[in-house]
Amino acid sequence: MSAAVTNADWRHMHADDLTMVYETGCIVHPDYPEAKSVFEDRFNLYPKGCFVLQAGQGQLGYAISHPWPAFTIPALNVELCSIPDNAKSYYLHDIALLPQARAGGYASIVVGKMAEQARDDGFSTMALVAVNGSQGFWERQGFKVVEHDALTGKLKTYSDDARYMMRELI
Ligand SMILES: CC(C)(COP(=O)(O)OP(=O)(O)OC[C@H]1O[C@@H](n2cnc3c(N)ncnc32)[C@H](O)[C@@H]1OP(=O)(O)O)[C@@H](O)C(=O)NCCC(=O)NCCS
Repeated sequence: MSAAVTNADWRHMHADDLTMVYETGCIVHPDYPEAKSVFEDRFNLYPKGCFVLQAGQGQLGYAISHPWPAFTIPALNVELCSIPDNAKSYYLHDIALLPQARAGGYASIVVGKMAEQARDDGFSTMALVAVNGSQGFWERQGFKVVEHDALTGKLKTYSDDARYMMRELI
C-alpha cells in the first residue's frame, strides 16, 4: 500500500457532488469521456449504488453502480433513462480514483461496499467492463472474464482490450 492519501473515506454520493465527480471522470478517463448528464443519469437512477471518496474538503474519486441485465453492456456516454425490468445482475459502471488515492486499498473497499449493496438488493452476480488494463485488479476482486459472442462487437466500441467480467455473490 503506497497511496499518498491515507485519511479518505467512502460515503454515498450526493447531488451536489456531481460537478466534482464529472471533473474527476474527465481527469481519470480521457479516453472514455462521458457528459455530465450521464453521471446525473446514473445517480438519479440508483443513488444507493453511487459513492464518493472524501478526504477533508476534497473528493478523490467515485464509484458508480446500478442493476442491469446480465451479459449486456450499456453504451458509453449514453443516458440509460431507466433500469430495465430484466435487470437481474448488478453492474459496476466505474471506479475512478485520482492518482494520489491509488494503491491504498480504497478501490477494494468500495468494491466491498457495492457487493454489499448488490447482495442487500437481492442480486447474485455483479458484472463490469474492464478497461485501462484494470483486468488484473478486477480478478483480485473475484471477477472472471466471460466470453460471450453477443458481447464482442459492443466491447470493441470500448477498446480492443475491453473485457466483460462477472463475479458471483455468495
Ligand atoms: C483501477 C483502480 C480503481 C484500482 O485502484 P487501486 O487504488 O490501485 O486499488 P487497490 O489499492 O484497492 O488495489 C487492490 C489490489 O489490486 C492490485 N491492482 C491495482 N490495480 C491493478 C491492475 N491494473 N492490475 C493488476 N492488479 C492491480 C493492487 O496491487 C492491489 O493488490 P494487493 O491486494 O495485492 O495489494 C485505479 O487504478 C484507477 O482509478 N484507475 C483508473 C480508472 C480505471 O481504470 N478504472 C477501472 C475502469 S474498469
